Amino acid sequence: KVNLKGINVEESRDAYTLTVAAGENWHELVKYCLQRQIYGLENLALIPGSVGAAPVQNIGAYGVEFKDVCLAVNYYDLSTQTIKTLSAKACQFAYRDSIFKHALKNRVIIVSVTIQLSKNWQPQIHYNGLNDLSKTASASGIFNRVVALRQSKLPDPKQLPNAGSFFKNPVVSAQDFHLLAKQYPDIPHYPQADRKVKLAAGWLIEQAGLKGYKTDTVGVHDKQALVLINHHHGSGSDVVALAKFVQQTVFEKFAILLLPEVRMVTASGEISFAEIEDYEH
Ligand code: EPU
Repeated sequence: KVNLKGINVEESRDAYTLTVAAGENWHELVKYCLQRQIYGLENLALIPGSVGAAPVQNIGAYGVEFKDVCLAVNYYDLSTQTIKTLSAKACQFAYRDSIFKHALKNRVIIVSVTIQLSKNWQPQIHYNGLNDLSKTASASGIFNRVVALRQSKLPDPKQLPNAGSFFKNPVVSAQDFHLLAKQYPDIPHYPQADRKVKLAAGWLIEQAGLKGYKTDTVGVHDKQALVLINHHHGSGSDVVALAKFVQQTVFEKFAILLLPEVRMVTASGEISFAEIEDYEH
């Protein structure tokens, strides 16, 4: 577990540039910035985990992604044993994705990230749940709203074990979306730059009748169906069996294959969800 600490702030006329060690806690960084009137991270409040983990899956919430604030990522290259820097562009950030999940997977250790936050801060309040805030909302107003929203939907892992959104929101073609929208006019959707459309996996799971579904040990969270919970000493196999059941049920109803955001690690290393067939045991 990377435990490097330290936050270095540089100020120019237009922006703050922060170099933050990978072992710093993400939410503490968001608060640190807010306290110093450095704005731009408030939509990403309360995301569990470390700063070094943020670029790996390009964390995102409430209309902002890590890629929007990232200038560069600094890592230790395990093969050359040197420190290297990748510009944000070279990190190949996409929805819950980056080069660190592909070409650089298991080959580097992220040691720090460089974040740039403009002094010309503009509130990002277009996301559902923030869009009733005033156009003159303050960064701390947004922070408080995001914290309240997350606390109302996402269970605290210390109280109810979970890994946040279990599945990624699926992205479908414009054509497939139009077919679905005919049948389900209220389907939540987010148009993407490439004309594709992102759907809400939580909505699909709820429509498939699984919100609040429980087995003896694990279940689908009753306040946010995208979260699978371990409510009574469930095993890894119990979670996988539930996830396969959810995937299958949604596929039967919508012909959309949900893919996990969560990574699965066994005693002998990481395995792919698609490869786990015998999920009963
Ligand atoms: N919805 C339902 N039923 C549910 C859950 C959601 O109908 O049980 C509907 C909501 O009403 C809304 C839409 O689905 O219309 C989207 O829901 P929400 O705003 O709660 O966000 P999400 O798409 O379910 C994503 C991220 C979250 C992030 C939120 C807010 C993914 C996989 N998840 O969830 O990230 O906090 O948006 O931006 O992209 C995470 O990645 O672990 C995570 C928690």
